Amino acid sequence: MNTKSVSETLLQRRSIRRYEYTPATNEQMQFIYEAISNTPTSYNAQQYSVIDISDPDLKLKLYELTGQKQIKTCSHFLVFCADFQKISQAAKAKQLEMPEIYNTADGLILGTVDASLAMMSAVTAAASLGLGTCCIGYARTANPAAISELLQLPDHVYVVCGLAIGVPRELPDLKPKQPQSLIIHHNHYRTDSMASDLMNYDTEVTEYNATRSGSKTTNDWTGHMLDYYQEALNYNMLEALKHRGFNPKK
Ligand SMILES: Cc1cc2nc3c(=O)[nH]c(=O)nc-3n(C[C@H](O)[C@H](O)[C@H](O)COP(=O)(O)O)c2cc1C
Repeated sequence: MNTKSVSETLLQRRSIRRYEYTPATNEQMQFIYEAISNTPTSYNAQQYSVIDISDPDLKLKLYELTGQKQIKTCSHFLVFCADFQKISQAAKAKQLEMPEIYNTADGLILGTVDASLAMMSAVTAAASLGLGTCCIGYARTANPAAISELLQLPDHVYVVCGLAIGVPRELPDLKPKQPQSLIIHHNHYRTDSMASDLMNYDTEVTEYNATRSGSKTTNDWTGHMLDYYQEALNYNMLEALKHRGFNPKK
């Protein structure tokens, strides 16, 4: 299997939301699975699982629940979950008491970090093969109860994020990212005002949105992000987690 160079894989990656009908091959998916499996995880506990959805009916149902067309049209939709069910079963098999790590904020962070890194391994492996990907956070937020039921998630497993994978049918312009001065701090967090760098970036994003290939918008960066956050205030993940058997206490 031919793969792209590391720099092309990482620096030319962009989210792809339109896919060809041709599916990803089994060989390509196997490579992606292997990359997922070799992801570093907290304690090597591998507190994550992935559900690979290729069944068109199931993809359609997930599209209807999330409104994200990519799920319907992609070749494989991978759902990355934080998973404390596996270690609980191992503890039970060895008749050991399972510490309630999943009921702490750090436990939830562990699972979320592990699942997120595994997703990034899949993104990178897919990009190196020339496949397109788009992370789908709505797989977590749109309707946690219905999606968990559809995927038959057991207790102590929750969706972190979905990932649509397919043969690209578009090549959108690369999105401008924050300058390094806003991302990389040297030896300590910068102490001067970031306002000027932030406003320059805001202007860059506004110009990008107005001139990019494909659909154009008048969105800036700051206002658009605040709109997303406002929408996100309506999500009740704590309640959703409680339905999945979690009861974080500290
Ligand atoms: C955790 C996460 C969740 C995301 N959720 C969605 C989503 O639900 N729908 C979507 O179209 N894009 C989603 N994206 C893609 C982002 O919009 C995209 O990464 C961002 O705009 C930067 O563009 P780029 O990936 O082309 O660099 C998500 C990305 C991440 C990392």
